[in-house]
Amino acid sequence: MDDFQLLVDLHRDAERQGPGGEAETRLSIALSGLSAAKNLRIADIGCGSGASTLVLAKHLEAQITAVDFIPDFLAKLEVEAARAGLAGRIRALAGSMEALPFGEAELDAIWSEGAIYNMGFEAGVAAWRKHLKPGGILAVSELTWLTRERPAELQAHWQREYSEIDTASGKLAILEKHGFSPLGYFVLPERCWLDNYYGPMEQRFASFLEAHGNSDAAFALVEAERHEVSLYERYKAFVGYGYYVARKVAG
Ligand SMILES: C[S@@+](CC[C@H](N)C(=O)[O-])C[C@H]1O[C@@H](n2cnc3c(N)ncnc32)[C@H](O)[C@@H]1O
Repeated sequence: MDDFQLLVDLHRDAERQGPGGEAETRLSIALSGLSAAKNLRIADIGCGSGASTLVLAKHLEAQITAVDFIPDFLAKLEVEAARAGLAGRIRALAGSMEALPFGEAELDAIWSEGAIYNMGFEAGVAAWRKHLKPGGILAVSELTWLTRERPAELQAHWQREYSEIDTASGKLAILEKHGFSPLGYFVLPERCWLDNYYGPMEQRFASFLEAHGNSDAAFALVEAERHEVSLYERYKAFVGYGYYVARKVAG
């Protein structure tokens, strides 16, 4: 099994594949101003197994297309959507966020939690804009520096892993540069990382290693994840996920 498949395997049965929380998705909905709107068409990009998709479907009157390029995650979303009685509002679509199958000005909103970094924040913001109606909403969470200066170890790690990491003011400037007007910004609280994401992942380590015969590759992946958790625990005052909600400016 290659490294990518191992990564899928570690995260397949998780409720979410990145930091987040139901209350935080609901806060983003409130900031979007869409709570009372009807007949919405929404895309949830890089939805994973759909933690955010299910919240959107529950709290908005919308048809939601949930896009991810890993079919195993989408299969879990379909099961959970059926279980929650939300299957009629959600369409799971296997595809790339870099070639979305939407037309121009087709969507009322695009959500994307912890996923836009895969194509890069600026490239994603620029490319996805055309699919939104004038006044449409973009709501994304993105790794963000919380302070102007950071410890060298943390700076070096994230600069290597994601060179577009920046402060909120940098991210907001990119949104404005690409024709969005920011409506709101907040930082995901610690429990979104520790209780909702890292904690459940750590509990899966033992069974994951056993299932893979304690292979070197499986150990290496677990070690890399442990290192990331340790960095977050030590340096959470300096780095987090920013949630950005913005409106497409007409034109
Ligand atoms: C960190 S996870 C976040 C998943 C989910 N939004 C959540 O918060 O639980 C990033 C997701 O982006 C998906 N992804 C990565 N690159 C992608 C691409 N090029 N096209 C579509 N999905 C992609 C991954 O499969 C994964 O589900």
